[in-house]
Amino acid sequence: MVCVVVSAFDPLSVGSLELSNRLAVPAMVTRLSGEDGFVNEPIVERYRRFAEGGVGLIVVEASAIHESRSGPLLRVSSDEFVPGLERVTQACHSAGPAKVFLQIIHFLKIARSGWRQKIADLGVDDLEVLPGLFADAAERAALAGFDGVELHMAHAYTLSSFLSRQNRRRDEYGRTLENRLRLPTAVMQAVTERVGDFPVSVRFNADEAIRRGYSVDDAAVFAVRFADLGAAYVSLSVGGKFEDAVHRDGEPLYPYTGFSGDRCMPGSNYPDAVNIWMARSVRRELRAAGHDTPVLGTGKIGSVELADRVLDDESCDIVGMARALLADPYLPAKARDGRVDETVRCIYCNVCKSLDGSFKTVVCYLWPAGATQAPRPGESTESELLWTNDKPLNATLRPGEVRLSWPAADGGATGYDLMRSTDGGTFDRITACTRTRHLDDRALSGHRYQYRVVPYDSAGRRGQASNRVEVDLMADQ
Ligand SMILES: Cc1cc2nc3c(=O)[nH]c(=O)nc-3n(C[C@H](O)[C@H](O)[C@H](O)COP(=O)(O)O)c2cc1C
Repeated sequence: MVCVVVSAFDPLSVGSLELSNRLAVPAMVTRLSGEDGFVNEPIVERYRRFAEGGVGLIVVEASAIHESRSGPLLRVSSDEFVPGLERVTQACHSAGPAKVFLQIIHFLKIARSGWRQKIADLGVDDLEVLPGLFADAAERAALAGFDGVELHMAHAYTLSSFLSRQNRRRDEYGRTLENRLRLPTAVMQAVTERVGDFPVSVRFNADEAIRRGYSVDDAAVFAVRFADLGAAYVSLSVGGKFEDAVHRDGEPLYPYTGFSGDRCMPGSNYPDAVNIWMARSVRRELRAAGHDTPVLGTGKIGSVELADRVLDDESCDIVGMARALLADPYLPAKARDGRVDETVRCIYCNVCKSLDGSFKTVVCYLWPAGATQAPRPGESTESELLWTNDKPLNATLRPGEVRLSWPAADGGATGYDLMRSTDGGTFDRITACTRTRHLDDRALSGHRYQYRVVPYDSAGRRGQASNRVEVDLMADQ
């Protein structure tokens, strides 16, 4: 038997395109544009860095196909946006091998009172204009030099609301699976008819993660439909719905505040690759239906090592890493060059998500204070991070928790990896901190723990590891 091992750095055919590797930046709103929706220099810079970092695919953030007002969001709703978007594609194409897609979105109105327009409020006339709007936007993306478009049918937005099991419209656009697919199908057909061979992909939820929402069985049907219609790849997300969003006084509803929002951008309390079984299940159905359409999976996959694992067990064909690549866009290059230890690793604290929700510029908590872009590997001056004290790390035991503290390392540390070993095993990174203390509330009686901290600079270079401290809870059993 021949055993084929698939790795993140293997190339992949996506329709008529060849990706140089299987790592992708999924769409991630930056809130760097003004409300006018035009591309500006910080946006170009953000995407240039992703390309420099060596990913195979970059999906540029959700860009509105219509004029409806919103907070800061990119737009592709008229030809005047094309030159700006072209600056993004040019910057990416000249910086690295990545293919660049534009995610295009239609959303309904929301108000600070918590009111939101629903698909039930739309007349058939309103729906009939949507396929044309998507086709116009896709044509502009092609003109701007993108390698493809991704139709946003995930989360809380218009097309996702049609696919939803909560779509109870009483006309031919609601309730049954066929009716729920009617508008998304018309959109896909209008786009492909307009743009010909230009690659068109679709992002939708594998699971809505809401009560009476759909799950992988419906998602597999959607995947087969979009593959039948020629999707270049299907990208699977989860949740992010208005139905369980928490309304805060005076703010418009943000669809990532409830449980479905947690499932969409799983935080530190969720296991790694928590949603990948859904991608695997949809992919299996797609293959059973005779389609080799690549499947993009996401959700707390933060290292090339883990990406290799989910690719190799055939859970997906492309691995989306949103927050991990925000934290360090150079993660692929560092892994490929054997410099994994220089990666600024995402801790899934979701500060980026909160910034998105309050319409503030999306930055990473682990970047140097005040930075609006991730530091380039060579950007900070070489400095050795050292401890002046030879036993900087201190641990104090309280019932059920270990309090750790240390002084700032000399040489300009940006943050600290906190490492823990259990019962003499290997040291795993339990978190990263920009402060000089941490509370470990996951220490259990009957075990022996060792801790150490490793400082890193803004380029991710690790400094000298601290002393090890041991906390023995064996006797507490
Ligand atoms: C700040 C932020 C903005 C996002 N914006 C989008 C978006 O524009 N379109 C989209 O489909 N998903 C968006 N997402 C979801 C991500 O693409 C991704 O599915 C999610 O973060 C889970 O992947 P991860 O665990 O690798 O971060 C966003 C996520 C974050 C954190």
